[in-house]
Amino acid sequence: MARPLKIGIVGAGSIGIRGALDHLVLPDVQERVVMTAVCDPAPGRAKAAAAKYHIPQAFEDLDDMLAKGDIEAVTLGTPIGIHFEQGLKCIRAGKHVHFNKTMTTTTADADTLIAEAKARNVKLVACPGEMLRPHNRCIRDLIRDGVLGRLAWAVIGCAFGTYHEKEGCRQGNDALSNINPAWYWQRAAGGGPLYDMVVYGLHALTGILGPAKRVTAFSGVAIREREFRGRKFVSDCDDNTVMILDFGNTVFAFVHGTFAGTITRFANPNFYGSKGAVVGLDMNGKPIPYPGKEEADKAKQGYQVLLPHVRNTPHREMEEAHVFEDIMQLVDLVRDGTPTASTPEHARHVIEIIEAAYRAAQTGQTQTLGTTFEQV
Ligand SMILES: NC(=O)c1ccc[n+]([C@@H]2O[C@H](COP(=O)([O-])OP(=O)(O)OC[C@H]3O[C@@H](n4cnc5c(N)ncnc54)[C@H](O)[C@@H]3O)[C@@H](O)[C@H]2O)c1
Repeated sequence: MARPLKIGIVGAGSIGIRGALDHLVLPDVQERVVMTAVCDPAPGRAKAAAAKYHIPQAFEDLDDMLAKGDIEAVTLGTPIGIHFEQGLKCIRAGKHVHFNKTMTTTTADADTLIAEAKARNVKLVACPGEMLRPHNRCIRDLIRDGVLGRLAWAVIGCAFGTYHEKEGCRQGNDALSNINPAWYWQRAAGGGPLYDMVVYGLHALTGILGPAKRVTAFSGVAIREREFRGRKFVSDCDDNTVMILDFGNTVFAFVHGTFAGTITRFANPNFYGSKGAVVGLDMNGKPIPYPGKEEADKAKQGYQVLLPHVRNTPHREMEEAHVFEDIMQLVDLVRDGTPTASTPEHARHVIEIIEAAYRAAQTGQTQTLGTTFEQV
């Protein structure tokens, strides 16, 4: 493809702005990708985004954008609960799709998207591309090489806290800065810390160890009311979940997604074996010498600067560059057929873990997992 890929931005909210619009408008990517349409139903938001980022077409409705938009691909920056319906529409309209995490909330929906895309030769890329990160690939290789001896167990997890209600980009008074995060607290919209935050650590954990085989969990709703800028919202999604994963060969992992408290770095699992431990980015008390470590240590944004489309570019100092990176993974896949680690199959496996953990908590029964993925 000689000319740039034409992409439509669906959802001009927090991540649509910080992960897509702010990055894709910069000169360094214009030869490869160009924003040709933006879509958001919030009054005035799509038009405001189009004006600010010089995008030719603005829509309030996805069907309209798919019918009239001059686009070949889309990035979905919408609430998780509508990713499936929107992704399916885009695929059926022949558009390549980048999904923000999580791609869907159920395995069956992920299966449908993958099958429909394959049938139409449409490309899918799903966040989060944790295995694009050199430190995760290095840890995977160290564990494979037996540096930790016989692996025993791992742990990863994080807490919701009040992150979304306090995001800076939601505190303004115009269409692009007064963005209500209430869907994060609604189960039907795909809310809760597992789909939103623990998904990063689960991608790292499974990317390093390979697919899990079984899951069991306890889960429930602890905080039933949330507040955003003085307004109260009912919260009905599970916000306190602990699960145990079985990776086979007597290797287990403990995973937590809760409203408060954490014992690991955000997306960095700890691994424990007979000859030592990986704790965050240290192994046996010493920093892991992953490629690019010195550069990452000096950077304001840490190891984010090592992502392939971020390194040595203006994107390295910007927020949410990992989302931009995954969009560029789609651009490279469509334009050049370059394989990516941010596959929909990896996303589907993590989605199955989350869905099965909720089912295990409801039924009291350990769930056997059926999906796998290739570790790219
Ligand atoms: N906020 C973050 O820090 C963050 C970080 C990484 C990834 N993500 C992911 O990005 C996605 C969006 O999250 P967010 O925080 O930006 O949410 P948000 O609520 O800030 O923005 C969502 C946007 O989607 C729009 N929208 C709602 N329904 C729509 C529809 N039918 N068609 C088109 N647009 C519609 C809303 O009007 C809003 O502008 C989610 O998948 C989330 O997991 C968020």
